[in-house]
Amino acid sequence: MERGVGQADQQPFTLYQIRETATGEAIGGAGFFGPPDTDGVVTLGYGLVPSARGKGYATEAVVGMLKIAQTGGALIVAADTSIDNDASVNVLRKTGFVEVDRTDDNIFFRVVLAADPDDTRIRLVTEDKKRFMNLLLLADEQEDMIDGYLDRGDLFVMGDDTLAVAVCVVTNEGNGVFEVRNLAVRPDRQRHGYGQKLLRHVESHYVGRIHDLIVGTGDSPITVPFYEACGFAFDHRVPRGIADTYDHPIIEAGVRLIDKVYLRKTVDSAEIWDVLDVNGLTTGRTVKRDLDGEVAVEWHYAFNWLVGANGDAGWDDISPDT
Ligand SMILES: CC(C)(COP(=O)(O)OP(=O)(O)OC[C@H]1O[C@@H](n2cnc3c(N)ncnc32)[C@H](O)[C@@H]1OP(=O)(O)O)[C@@H](O)C(=O)NCCC(=O)NCCS
Repeated sequence: MERGVGQADQQPFTLYQIRETATGEAIGGAGFFGPPDTDGVVTLGYGLVPSARGKGYATEAVVGMLKIAQTGGALIVAADTSIDNDASVNVLRKTGFVEVDRTDDNIFFRVVLAADPDDTRIRLVTEDKKRFMNLLLLADEQEDMIDGYLDRGDLFVMGDDTLAVAVCVVTNEGNGVFEVRNLAVRPDRQRHGYGQKLLRHVESHYVGRIHDLIVGTGDSPITVPFYEACGFAFDHRVPRGIADTYDHPIIEAGVRLIDKVYLRKTVDSAEIWDVLDVNGLTTGRTVKRDLDGEVAVEWHYAFNWLVGANGDAGWDDISPDT
């Protein structure tokens, strides 16, 4: 994005031209309607030429604008869109905005920027799970699909309750198989290792009960490399598994997702024990590679108990990095 001219007094809360990196062509604009008000609120607007729509560029531009707003000291970003503009509503939801008001014509959104970005504690949330819908929609764009697994799944939340850094929903498929149904990291915190950390936590949470962790995802240039980096390997492909399931085209990084790809990771409890070591709870301990899973889970609980990390939480709320 390139900043507009003649607005030096309002920097960085000014107008930006959006250019396509590959061609250098101007494809739209984004801007703030002035600097933050006394409550730290700035209002964002954006638009793309029709030929550049549907490629994820608006989402990228809004994420960029949120970073600019945060760096510039804004606390809240507001934006509104007409009620029938599904694409724009989607962009705002995907980038972390929540609906705060609506009229017959418009929906008004806000996103809070000022949470502690270093708050990476992970909790299991059992009540009012839908309050994290915003983040969940990042990984699964259709709310009725999320409704299909949210209740019966375990919801792990990293970070502040009101402004989570990342979420993950996992279901127990039986016979030691657990499935990642949803994993999403706040757009401005992606590529900071949080996704990987949350997955490691999930593995250690089920230690002793888990044999395989599986995930079904679109054949996307973002998610597949991510899961591979986390130790997953290709398992099988369901042709048109995405295209035939969702009621609208799912586009990620400019690619329309058609097939569903399943990846699998066999979870070795002894390796999880390594992770516990790395996290400092048992520093210096020699790890037995053939450690029995059941023993590991008891030790894991016992160590949390000993270090007093449990507070009032039940066993299942306790994690190795609590
Ligand atoms: C996919 C997602 C969960 C990854 O979380 P993250 O915190 O950004 O990823 P991490 O920082 O832990 O990445 C770990 C490694 O995965 C790989 N990776 C992550 N994002 C990648 C990307 N966009 N392109 C290529 N590789 C990527 C890298 O190897 C990365 O290590 P590196 O940064 O040292 O190179 C996150 O991008 C996200 O929330 N996306 C939107 C929702 C979604 O698509 N969820 C998955 C559907 S189930």
